[in-house]
Amino acid sequence: MGEVRKTFGLAGVTAGSTALCMVGKEGAGLAYRGYNIADLVEHSNFEEVAYLLLHGKMPTRAELDAYIAKLKSLRRLPDELKTVLEMIPQDAHPMDVQRTGVSFLGNIEAEGDFSNQADTADRLFASLPSMLLYWHRFHTDGVRIDTATDDDSVAGHFLHMLHDKPSSELHRKCLDTTLILYAEHEFNASTFTGRVITGTLSDMHSAVTGAIGALRGPLHGGANEAAMELIQQFPTAEKATAGVLSMLGRKELIMGFGHRVYTTSDPRNAVNKKMSRTLAEENGDMTLYEVSEAVENVMWDEKKLFANADFFAASVYHFIGIPTYLFTPIFVCSRITGWAAHVMEQRANNKLIRPAADYIGPGLQTYVSIDER
Ligand code: COA
Repeated sequence: MGEVRKTFGLAGVTAGSTALCMVGKEGAGLAYRGYNIADLVEHSNFEEVAYLLLHGKMPTRAELDAYIAKLKSLRRLPDELKTVLEMIPQDAHPMDVQRTGVSFLGNIEAEGDFSNQADTADRLFASLPSMLLYWHRFHTDGVRIDTATDDDSVAGHFLHMLHDKPSSELHRKCLDTTLILYAEHEFNASTFTGRVITGTLSDMHSAVTGAIGALRGPLHGGANEAAMELIQQFPTAEKATAGVLSMLGRKELIMGFGHRVYTTSDPRNAVNKKMSRTLAEENGDMTLYEVSEAVENVMWDEKKLFANADFFAASVYHFIGIPTYLFTPIFVCSRITGWAAHVMEQRANNKLIRPAADYIGPGLQTYVSIDER
């Protein structure tokens, strides 16, 4: 049994190769196609990172301008898709809205023979925020928004549709930074799901639909929403410390902590934490930040567990006025770049992904007919 448990969850198992992302390698932290995220966050923007992932190299200024213009031209939704979005109930989870939106787009804009796969990727990338916020605004404000805003960035487009006005530069920049940090992460559960689907020579819409389903759970992308629900319960840092201590005493999982690959820290956390502090200061109320920091300290002191990318992303999104139930869908709007890049990488050197299982059921049985049982 011990031998069997070792491979549970495929922990530590190498299941393929990728040129897209280096995670947790000595000294490298997290790097996309060889570019460290610290440099990308400092000097780049999300569209440039998306181009790097999807098109294999850093764009020139002209290439980036053309790419931004292309993405802007792909933000409009077909009328049939708008009708579907209007039919999805208001109390649906927005991850399910995106899952259905991508799947439906696969019906009316089917990928065909994969020869235009880069265009399919760009279309999904450009339209995911549109789908989400068209549905959100229709049901919360009773309006049919024009999703083709003139904002150059994905972050600006997202916040403009959400708040019905252009965002402040600080809020746009903070959202842009989290989009860079969420864009790609090697063989995480949702990406691996997408590669498994791709490995059968299925289409990109199916791979992304499956990946959204995998990202939805609280052990993966759903952790940012769960982290928000956790920190919001505590009115002070002292109460947060006591509350988390008693949760740990009851052996409860604290969402936004721990990681399958990183062992001592998540390189994305320091960036999110710094933004959370800046936004709390702008907000003039440090409580949520102090509560978050108290939870982080208890988790380290008690369990040597560190905050992952989702933990401080929660307060960042909260401070820029994003409702909690849209947190994980933002992750989708970013990770679509990594997913689509993995779909293309898988196709370039495809092999069906079909592992084996250790059989633990009964030995061979004698079949007894139904009337004699
Ligand atoms: N809160 C409390 N305890 C935790 C924990 C957390 N967030 N994460 C791990 N642990 C504990 C486990 O209970 C386990 O304890 P045990 O050995 O006494 O049973 C030990 O640490 C090892 O955890 P394990 O679940 O085996 O690690 P994993 O590699 O399978 O899981 C995660 C990795 C990310 C799924 C896990 O850390 C987790 O559930 N985190 C919370 C969800 C989350 O933030 N997900 C987003 C990841 S980016």
